[in-house]
Amino acid sequence: MTDSALRNAALAARDRAYAPYSQFAVGAALLCDDGTVVSAANVENASYGLSMCAERAAIFAAVAAGRTRFAALAVAGPEGAGAAPCGACRQVLAEFGTGVRVLYATAHGEAETTLAALLPDAFSLR
Ligand code: THU
Repeated sequence: MTDSALRNAALAARDRAYAPYSQFAVGAALLCDDGTVVSAANVENASYGLSMCAERAAIFAAVAAGRTRFAALAVAGPEGAGAAPCGACRQVLAEFGTGVRVLYATAHGEAETTLAALLPDAFSLR
């Protein structure tokens, strides 16, 4: 799976966003160690605080399907907008290791980094 294919999976997932309140559609694609890609989109709610980010939806779907080892996460937001994962999603992803690569769009182009760089000194109980 190339980075480009993973980014395209995030773009495809973005089409399934349910974002009637913010109009900010996000897609995420998580590449698991076994080569599986689990993708998801943000899902909003009339009670705004119950909304779920695309990244966490993908992480939770992967874990619920028995996958907890991740190689990379791609995130796609609206065209022209940055789509760096929010702090909550960074912390949730850190639960499964900080070595995961993270790909997302910025105002200046595509970014490629690691979770360790995005969330130094992540909180951990271990
Ligand atoms: N959102 C995500 O899906 N991922 C992020 O990392 C940040 C924000 C969603 C939540 C909400 O549905 C919309 O984007 C606007 O905040």
